[in-house]
Amino acid sequence: MRKNVLITGASSGLGAGMARIFAAKGHNLALTARRVDRLEALKAEIEAAHPDVEVVVHALDVNDHDQVFAVVKECIRDLGGLDRVIVNAGLGKGGRIGTGKFHANKQTAETNFVAALAQCEAAMEHFYQRNAGHLVVISSMSAMRGMPGSITAYAATKAGVAHVAEGIRSDLLKHQGHDIKVTTLFPGYIASEMNEGVEQEIRLMVDTETGCKAMVKAIDKEVAEAAVPPWPWAPLSQVMKHAPLSVLRRMM
Ligand SMILES: NC(=O)c1ccc[n+]([C@@H]2O[C@H](COP(=O)([O-])OP(=O)(O)OC[C@H]3O[C@@H](n4cnc5c(N)ncnc54)[C@H](OP(=O)(O)O)[C@@H]3O)[C@@H](O)[C@H]2O)c1
Repeated sequence: MRKNVLITGASSGLGAGMARIFAAKGHNLALTARRVDRLEALKAEIEAAHPDVEVVVHALDVNDHDQVFAVVKECIRDLGGLDRVIVNAGLGKGGRIGTGKFHANKQTAETNFVAALAQCEAAMEHFYQRNAGHLVVISSMSAMRGMPGSITAYAATKAGVAHVAEGIRSDLLKHQGHDIKVTTLFPGYIASEMNEGVEQEIRLMVDTETGCKAMVKAIDKEVAEAAVPPWPWAPLSQVMKHAPLSVLRRMM
C-alpha cells in the first residue's frame, strides 16, 4: 500500500474529493493549497471520521517554485516519507488566443505546466532516493488535441504535463529493481469549482464523488494512463484523437 499520499490543490474539487476517499482507505495525507482554512476544515472532517489517519496541511502556492520544493520536504519529514504524490493543483482561466487574454492564458500555463513540472521534480527526487513511489499527474481529456476558444492554453498545458509524465516513465525503463510508477489521469467532466461557473450545459458531467471514486480506482491500479470515468471517456478519447478538427470542435 502507498500509505503516505501528498495531494496538491486539495482545498476543493477533485483534490478534496480524492483526499476523502484515500482517508477512508486508511492512507495518511499531506494536503496543500493556498486556502489553508479549507485545508484545516478538511483535516478536521477527515480526522473525526478516521481517527487512525494522520493528516498534515501546508499552505502552498505552486507558482512559488522554491516553496514547492520546501513544502514537499516538510511533508516528507511530517509523515516519514511520501509514497505517492498527486500533482493536482490547477486552474482553467483563459481566452481565445489573440483576444487580449494573454494574462489569463499565461497564468494557466504557469500554474498547470511550469508549477506541475516543479512538483514532478520534487516528487521524483524523493522517489529516486527511496527507489520507490508513485507519481500521479492530473491531465485532462482536453489534452487529446488542440482545443479552441477559451481552453486552447489550458488544453496545451494538460498535453504538456501528460508528456512530462510519459518522459519520466521512459526514464524509468532504463532503471532496474525499483518500485517507481507514474500514472497520468485524463478526467472528463467532473463537478468542481473549476466548472461551476461555466454557463453552457456540460453534457456528460458526473458529480464530484463519482468522478473522484473513478480517479482513485485508476490510481490504485497504478496504470500508466487512464481516462476517468472510463465510460464514456475511454472510447471518446480515441474518437477525439482521430476526429477531423471540425468535428472535434463541436464535441467539446
Ligand atoms: N473538474 C474537471 O472536470 C476536470 C477535468 C479535467 C482535469 N481537471 C483537473 O483537475 C485538477 C483539479 O481541478 P478541480 O476540477 O478540482 O478544480 P477546483 O475545484 O477549482 O480545484 C483546483 C485546486 O487547485 C488549487 N490551486 C489552483 N491554483 C493554485 C496555486 N497557484 N497554488 C496552489 N494550489 C492552486 C486550488 O487551491 P487554492 O485556490 O486554495 O490554492 C484548488 O484546490 C486541475 O488540475 C484540473 O485541471 C479537472
